[in-house]
Amino acid sequence: MQTITLPRPDDWHLHLRDGTMLKAVLPETARHFARAIVMPNLVPPVVTLADAVAYRSRIMAALPAGMAFEPLMVLYLTEGTDPADVAAAHTSGLVKAVKLYPAGATTNSHSGVQDLGKVMPVLEKMAEIGLPLCTHGEVTDPAVDIFDREAVFIDTVLDPLRRRLPDLRLVMEHITTEEGVAYAAEGGANLAATITTHHLIINRNHILAGGIKPHYYCLPVAKREKHRLALRKAATSGSPRYFLGTDSAPHVDALKEHACGCAGCFTATNTMSLLAHVFEEEGALDQLAGFASRNGPAFYRLPVNREMIRLEKRPEPCVWPEKIVSEAGPVTVFNPGFPVHWHVVA
Ligand code: DOR
Ligand code: ZN
Repeated sequence: MQTITLPRPDDWHLHLRDGTMLKAVLPETARHFARAIVMPNLVPPVVTLADAVAYRSRIMAALPAGMAFEPLMVLYLTEGTDPADVAAAHTSGLVKAVKLYPAGATTNSHSGVQDLGKVMPVLEKMAEIGLPLCTHGEVTDPAVDIFDREAVFIDTVLDPLRRRLPDLRLVMEHITTEEGVAYAAEGGANLAATITTHHLIINRNHILAGGIKPHYYCLPVAKREKHRLALRKAATSGSPRYFLGTDSAPHVDALKEHACGCAGCFTATNTMSLLAHVFEEEGALDQLAGFASRNGPAFYRLPVNREMIRLEKRPEPCVWPEKIVSEAGPVTVFNPGFPVHWHVVA
């Protein structure tokens, strides 16, 4: 039997929501992951240090007894964000990043940034103190095709920003294109990129061919096959520029299977098994620890987790619940569409 052992992984991009949904999904992450960068796109968003402190307490209160988990908090950047509050958030040690949502780019992004010029004092402060900016890297111009929005963001927003503030530490969140892979590769020590589990598995045909699959719809939307292959190559390359951010994003089925369905794939439950499967297919199981356990802490200047987890490849396929039950309704667990034999055993 094949087994692999790696330091307990972290999720560098996660949506935990709040209230009853938080309660339902938190154990799914805490079962395998030690820490997660918790995205702040609640309604209302987590904007200030005080908001982050309060949200962190709600997360810890929702954690089942006996489970260990450390939420790494993130502030939602608005045009009203105060640089002094961001600096205080950094000093507190609780807040590990600030998230840039271009207004209108995705779920609960309407309080996001329309004019980057207006947040320049905040970004300058972050560059000075070394607090990372996490970017949702898509332009929102309706004239730009949805499949081109990431590449256009890199050229028209990201690259000019990095030239203006070379000391700004920045994470390109959930890259989905070969352009994203290439840009992150050349960015040096101040730049990194997260890659989701589902973007290593699906391309746009999986969403659209043979009937529309709402549970494969997320933002940025999965692109054509050559991009999926570029993401696989990047994730398994051993480069410290790339690390896991699942973007696991729960929405109840009623809002996914809808005339205007919400964006998000829920992968918290089965990510580690899926990643072992993908890395084995790529002949790169030895790179999984780097991607899921080591590269993220190195970028965020945090220690690698000391506990270990073990995965075993067994003859019988993994069986996951098809849905997670929440008081708000069921949440469908990402179904890769093929059997997976890598079981997380300890
Ligand atoms: O698919 C997504 N879902 N992409 C995002 O950027 C946001 C997320 C969510 O919060 O549901
Ligand atoms: Zn996200």
